[in-house]
Order: sequence, then structure tokens, then C-alpha cells
Amino acid sequence: MKTSVCIIGGGPSGLMLSQLLHLKGIQNIVLERQSREYVLGRIRAGVLEHGFAELMREAQCGERMDREGEIHDGFLIAHDGKLDRVDLHKYSGGSSVMVYGQTELTRDLYEARDRMKGAVIHNAEDVQPHDLSSAKPYVTYRSGDDIVRIDCDFVIGADGFHGVSRKSIPKDKITEYEKVYPFGWLGVLSRTKPVSPELIYAKHERGFALCSMRSQVLSRYYIQVPLTDTVEDWPDDAFWAELKRRLPADIAAKLITGPSIEKSIAPLRSFVAEPMRHGNLFLAGDAAHIVPPTGARGLNSAASDIYYLYHALLAHYQQGDRTGLDNYSAKALARVWKAQRFSWWMTTMLHTFPDAIGYDQKLQQTDLEYLFSSEKAMGSLAENYVGLPF
Ligand code: APR
Ligand code: PHB
Repeated sequence: MKTSVCIIGGGPSGLMLSQLLHLKGIQNIVLERQSREYVLGRIRAGVLEHGFAELMREAQCGERMDREGEIHDGFLIAHDGKLDRVDLHKYSGGSSVMVYGQTELTRDLYEARDRMKGAVIHNAEDVQPHDLSSAKPYVTYRSGDDIVRIDCDFVIGADGFHGVSRKSIPKDKITEYEKVYPFGWLGVLSRTKPVSPELIYAKHERGFALCSMRSQVLSRYYIQVPLTDTVEDWPDDAFWAELKRRLPADIAAKLITGPSIEKSIAPLRSFVAEPMRHGNLFLAGDAAHIVPPTGARGLNSAASDIYYLYHALLAHYQQGDRTGLDNYSAKALARVWKAQRFSWWMTTMLHTFPDAIGYDQKLQQTDLEYLFSSEKAMGSLAENYVGLPF
């Protein structure tokens, strides 16, 4: 097979790029290791920044998001017995975020790819990029007993944190920066009305908690747990009881509980690989960087990569201009690191660290007091939460 751009990974990053390129007549093939059902079964975060929502519209995939997604102009932070509001609209100069599940967004992208008869190959085993430093790279994969070869101009590594793309870059050509946090998030999805119309991030000495939602009838809640905990340690009743303990009493009293329809634990990690390019391989999204979920930057960090990569490929194919491709890594990383800083800061300010000394706890309190007493500090939070410009 032959194509212009071979995209490894059919998550939101790969599908979005595939869709945008296809709309401009640039041939591409997506290779996904899993089945579609598996990809659509994963529950991920649900807050989209303005720029990502715009990209969905540009990709002609924004219709259901605009119909069913909720615009949020602010969120709440519970701390020290208080419930303070962050007015995103006011402090970001009129911007907001869209609450729309990543699973739904991925479904919309798959449906758009089907509509346009885009090439998305599922269950592609042993995907392997080759000759990345040459002008004629290719990718192979196994389908049953057959090895299939795809010749292309560029390979896009959009295959997530555990993918093959980043690992195919020689060790001496890539630097990895990583920070692992000493806790995870236990998440529960339940068919109940959300406890609050806006998200609540709760700092509590027993550990962080988050009240989020997917719609007015579907809630998503999280609590901070030790890394040694398993889902089996947390029957539904224990989860709800612990969540209530970490919320302000009046909120806890209003919480509607119900059976969990999904329950999982995710460790918190910050990670960046530099550079995001090796020859004709370009990394995008989780393949190159991940953030802890506090502040919902994961998907939004991927969005700017896709935006830069899409425009760079467009300039190459339409005008023969390679500057965008040459500048891709530096440009993408500049924004990636800002999202890293913001996620690290939100995580550090709101979680209970098992080894924290009194000094650290005082700084956490001061961070929050400063935030809610300074319009400039609020402005900084708001502009990062709604998303820095691409
Ligand atoms: N070959 C082919 N596909 C692969 C391979 C491989 N060797 N390894 C992984 N994949 C696929 C995974 O099955 C997955 O569907 O690549 C896809 C990567 O998708 P994501 O992990 O969702 O990463 P990305 O598309 O960059 O999405 C950005 O933002 O909110 C965060 O982590 C969240 O997924 C989200 C991310
Ligand atoms: C979610 O709804 O899953 C969610 C929302 C906000 C976050 C993290 C996760 O900061």
C-alpha cells in the first residue's frame, strides 16, 4: 500500500489529524492496534478547551458536541471549609470550556471517518515504523498471517504513552522528563444527576476529590487514593462514603449516589519526550507527553500538536514549504511545557502528599489564599484552564 501520511494510533489525536488532512485532500491511513469497541470503551476526561472545540468544528465533527456538550463559564474549589468559584469567563476575557466526554468525541471522529470512507485499519498487530531517517519511510503491520507494508512520506506517532512510535527513536536521540506522583485517582461513573452544575475540585486532608459530569444524567466522580489500592478495595458504598467526607457538608448532603457503571484507578504522572520529531516521524499527543488529570489538560495538549502538525503538513503539500515541519517540535513543546506547568501546579496545590512537611502544607494554603485574593492570579488560572492560544 502507498499513502502520503501514515498515522499510527486511532485515538483522538490520530483520528482528528486524519480527518483534517482528508478534508484537504491529503491521503492518509490510520493504523489502530485495538478494535473500535475497545477504543470506545475507554472512559477518559471530559473537559474541552475552546481551541479543541474549534478544531472539532473545523474537522466537521462538532455538530453533536455543540448540541449535547455543556458550556461551563466557571468551576468551584472547595478548601479549608470554603467553596470558592473561579469565574473563567470573567478572568479569561470571555472564554469558557466545553464539558463533553472524550469517549463521545472519539465516537464522533470515527463516524466522520466512516462517512468520508477514511482508511482506519483496526486490529493492526505488530505495527513497526522503518527507515524513519530516509525520505522513503514505511510502516509494517501484521494482519493474521500476512505482513502488510505501507510506503509513505511521513509517519505520525499518535499511539499514546505505551505506543511503538516513541520507542522506535534511538535512545541517544531522545530525552525523557518524568515525574511520578505518589497517588492515583479512583474514578466512578454513575447514572445520577451531578451534585453541582459546575465542577468541584476539593482539597481535603484525607485527599483530593473531584465532582465532574458527562451530562445532566451522568456523573463522574474521583477521589485520590494510594497507589497500592485496587478497585476491589473500593466497593461502591465505600467510595460514596469517602467522597462525601471530602466534600463540604452541604454538598455532601445533596450528593445523589447510585451503582457505578465504570470504576478504575489511574496513577498520576507527568511526562515529556524531546524532541517530538525524528527524521520523518512526528510524535503527537500522549505518545510524546502526558499530564496528571488535574486541570484536564491531556486531550487539550494533544490538540495543539495536531493543530501545528496539520498546518505544517498542509504548507508542505500545498506550497512545498517545510518550515512548519522543521519548527514543529520546538513550537509544540513550548505549549506542551506550559500545560505541564499548569497541571503540575493544580496537582500540587490540591492533593495531599504523603511525605509533605508542615512547610509544604503552609505553601499549599498560601497558594489558594493568594489565588482567591488576587485578580492577576485568577487571570493566570483562567487563561490556562480555558487553554492558551495555539
Ligand atoms: N500500534 C497501533 N496503535 C497503537 C499502538 C501500536 N503499537 N499502541 C497504541 N496504539 C493505539 C491505542 O490503542 C490508542 O487507541 O493508539 C491510540 C492512542 O490513543 P490515546 O492513548 O487516546 O492518545 P491520544 O490520541 O494522543 O489522545 C490524547 O488525551 O485526555 C488525554 O490520555 C488522554 O487519550 C487521551 C489523550
Ligand atoms: C473528568 O470529567 O473526567 C475530568 C474533569 C476535570 C478534570 C479531570 C477529569 O480536571
